[in-house]
Amino acid sequence: MIEERYMRSISIQMRSAPAVLLVLLGISSSLLAGCSMGEEMRRIEESKRAGKIRDASNSSNLTGDQIFVRSCNTCHQGGKEGMGPRLDKMDADFPTDDSLKKFLRKGKGMMPPQSPSTITDVEMDSLVIYLRKLNTDLKESK
Ligand code: HEC
Repeated sequence: MIEERYMRSISIQMRSAPAVLLVLLGISSSLLAGCSMGEEMRRIEESKRAGKIRDASNSSNLTGDQIFVRSCNTCHQGGKEGMGPRLDKMDADFPTDDSLKKFLRKGKGMMPPQSPSTITDVEMDSLVIYLRKLNTDLKESK
């Protein structure tokens, strides 16, 4: 009698074993999914942050003289002769803004090219306005 009940309970356990396994599998796979969701969210957050940093470094808030100080002044201190030539002949050598911009984008010899990732097109416009004024000031102070 007792044995029979025991056997029945075992057989019930055996029959429900696959179900238990399935439930366990379900739990573990949803845990895994949870993990990879978290991973995915983290990656999205990270790439958003990287995008913001990139936008900030591409910011067009720098004025012409700020860009000059950052990118040019080491070799053209105040536009005076240094590693690079005195910048009082830009107007003569590059009469159009386009030709001056092309020269700056390309660089020449020891002078490094300036890509749009370091000087955006908007900043390039500000820089050229600054350079025209610098050229005039340098010519007058000669
Ligand atoms: C690493 C030093 C260096 C940096 C940085 C540099 N230059 Fe020059 N620059 C030179 C040299 C050297 C020359 C002469 C190139 C040649 O003729 O071979 C030159 C030439 C020039 C000329 C030509 C002048 C003329 O009348 O023909 C201009 C304009 C000029 N630089 C502007 C700039 C500006 C604007 C920046 C910043 C965006 C800058 N340079 C950054 C070294 C530099």
